[in-house]
Amino acid sequence: KRIELIGAPVQIGAGRGGCLMGPDALRTAGLARTLTELGHAVSDRGNLDAPEAAVPAHPNPAIHDLERSAGWVEVLQAVETEADVPIFLGGDHLMAAGTVPAMAARAQARGRPLHVLWLDAHSDIHTLESTESGNLHGTPVAYFTGQADFRPHFPAPRATVAPESICMIGLRSVDPFEKRALTRAGVEVHDMRAIDEHGIAAPLRAFLDRVRDAGADLHVSFDVDFLDPGIAPAVGTTVPGGATFREAHLVMEMLNDADLVTSLDLAELNPFLDDRGRTAKLLVDLVASAFGKSVLDRPTRSRT
Ligand code: ARG
Ligand code: MN
Ligand code: MN
Ligand code: MN
Repeated sequence: KRIELIGAPVQIGAGRGGCLMGPDALRTAGLARTLTELGHAVSDRGNLDAPEAAVPAHPNPAIHDLERSAGWVEVLQAVETEADVPIFLGGDHLMAAGTVPAMAARAQARGRPLHVLWLDAHSDIHTLESTESGNLHGTPVAYFTGQADFRPHFPAPRATVAPESICMIGLRSVDPFEKRALTRAGVEVHDMRAIDEHGIAAPLRAFLDRVRDAGADLHVSFDVDFLDPGIAPAVGTTVPGGATFREAHLVMEMLNDADLVTSLDLAELNPFLDDRGRTAKLLVDLVASAFGKSVLDRPTRSRT
């Protein structure tokens, strides 16, 4: 596969600094080399940058860094790529307000819908009105599904994603407003309680079948806090009870076998909080599993 790394060092969507260093930590942990060794043709575009956009103030006083956030959304939405699989190196999860519409527009141009696999402790479906923290990394899903109009603060999304085409796995911290929004929108959600009861493979397999039947592109948005903080400490919004090492690898291995992923976000890595690079290295290992690293030689699409 032709894989392009695209750095998106956005950090103003989070409550504390550090995600700015995410792309370089992923590079330092050997992301490009690892993918190259797996037989892929890897290029690295370097890091994007965003100017502040001139936007009116919002009445919600909690919101911070709105101008810079709007700038990032605009810059990331405009990304065009020739690669089979662009990997967006975050950067906090506000990045998805840009990457997902960009990938939805790319899919649309190919006459395909876009499905999104959202791996996260959080649902990030706040609106500019409902966010209480004012951290806009909690809002991308409301934006790119068109659940709320973010204009005139953010530009209109280049293309939106149908809420029914999203599958969220790993949720364990959802605010009351978000619970109602998820139900209203009809997003498919599997919280950690469901994973505990039924395992992680069954819901993922069902969703991947749906993606294949729809002939859709698949964007995976991976928030580091999907993982249990015990194995992935380098994230500002740790929530106990996350995906285990094996659950996370299984997800990635199943994604590799299904061979459906057309783009990927690696979001919320905060290297300032890491422990000798272990979270960055774990992410590189997980990406390797998603792009062909396996214990044994087995054919892809072995699941059917
Ligand atoms: N729901 C909380 C908030 O709105 C947490 C959001 C965390 N999002 C993230 N991408 N880590 O502040
Ligand atoms: Mn998130
Ligand atoms: Mn999260
Ligand atoms: Mn909140």
